Amino acid sequence: MNSVAMTPHARRRKIVSLFSRLRKSAGQVNPIPIYDELRGMGEVISAPWGGLLVNSYGLAHQILRDKRWAVPDRTWRSRQAAVTRWDSPASRQMSHTLPLLNPPDHTHLRRPLGAVFDRNTLAELHRAAEEMVEVLLDEFTQRLQEGSADFVAMVSEKLPVMIIGKWMGLPPADHELLWELTHDQVYTQELFPTASEIAISDAATARLQVYFADLIQDRRRTPGDDPVSVWIRTWDDLEGDPARTDTVVHSLALFMILAALETTSHLIANTLRLLLEHPDQLDLLRQDPELIPDAVEETLRYDAPIHVITRVAVADTDLGGVPISAGETVQLLIGAAHHDPVRFTDPHRFDVRRRRGRGQSGHASRSPSHLAFGAGIHYCLGNVLARLEAAALLGALLSRPIRLRLSAPAEWAPRVAFRRITSLPLTLA
Ligand code: HEM
Repeated sequence: MNSVAMTPHARRRKIVSLFSRLRKSAGQVNPIPIYDELRGMGEVISAPWGGLLVNSYGLAHQILRDKRWAVPDRTWRSRQAAVTRWDSPASRQMSHTLPLLNPPDHTHLRRPLGAVFDRNTLAELHRAAEEMVEVLLDEFTQRLQEGSADFVAMVSEKLPVMIIGKWMGLPPADHELLWELTHDQVYTQELFPTASEIAISDAATARLQVYFADLIQDRRRTPGDDPVSVWIRTWDDLEGDPARTDTVVHSLALFMILAALETTSHLIANTLRLLLEHPDQLDLLRQDPELIPDAVEETLRYDAPIHVITRVAVADTDLGGVPISAGETVQLLIGAAHHDPVRFTDPHRFDVRRRRGRGQSGHASRSPSHLAFGAGIHYCLGNVLARLEAAALLGALLSRPIRLRLSAPAEWAPRVAFRRITSLPLTLA
């Protein structure tokens, strides 16, 4: 049936069915046809669960940079019906973190942070990443001599926590715990968490809160030059109130872990998966390793780690002709926006030379940037670090005299907003 001619009831049913397909295995493996169907229903569509869904790159980009759209902060959350996900301890903890603060609270927290990763820190983490990937790939290739090995368990879930752990000065013995708590916590950030998932997220949040409260006490006793000690000094100077400092630093440190692990791991695993599924593109990288950063960018466009970003209307307005009231949400379908043919030529093609304009003219006709790290005032603070880790890993892998292939299909968590490959079994080709 033509979607324009559909009754409102049929449209609602179709949207519900498309989102349910997104959570199923086939939808996880390849959500693109589902996004095409959603886009076919319009640039802006009403969500059956309230608010609007945005499919186009242009509108998503505009909303992210527009003051008339806010993040769903704690004031907004407190206005939602009680006993919902917004009222849960995990949600309340999240509402103290940077991406859920609006100005002036957001500015108050973000400005003193500066760039977070300055040039020296990045150079040091780059060196560390290069050493770590060699160790991880040694172990991985050794296992491959014996047969199939899971790239996620052995490599892509190891590197991000090793790097963040080194940066924050966290003991390697805690890495596994931090992964477990991060996987559990993310439910509260998903689109449709069930009551039991919210309970899992609440329990993980409680343990993360204890972990970071202990860490702050430890850094107060033995300050160093790690970021947590630096933030304590910064906010002690700014606030003059140690209790207030501890609250601020607690949310910051906790969120850095949540922000850095699954996203970066997914980027690393997904880049490799897409290259193995597109051998012509992998060959291009082998011929010209300078294309490695371009392959990372193309992965971020083609299948970003985060597929949905939410904003709230500050005042009554309309979006693409659809009215929306103050306080209503709009879900930006980043995964769909990245395949918007209005913005990207041949959007469903995984093309590592996209940023070079496919080298046809010899001139830079750079493709417009993706929204994988957001845009506007909440633009991701860890983007350089994530890119650096993915490029370091890919560079080291391609420099080895091995050829890999998938030994079984990748497995995925049934998510809509936060993509996660749970296993990528590989073998020597
Ligand atoms: C591939 C990896 C990553 C992706 C795809 C990613 C994606 C994002 C996105 C989309 C946002 C904006 C959310 C919004 O506008 O509502 C964001 C914000 C943020 N990210 Fe990342 N991120 C990644 C890695 C990291 C890393 C490694 C760190 C830190 C070590 C980090 C720290 C942050 C912080 C602190 C914010 C909040 C910024 C603010 O609200 O002012 N991210 N990230």
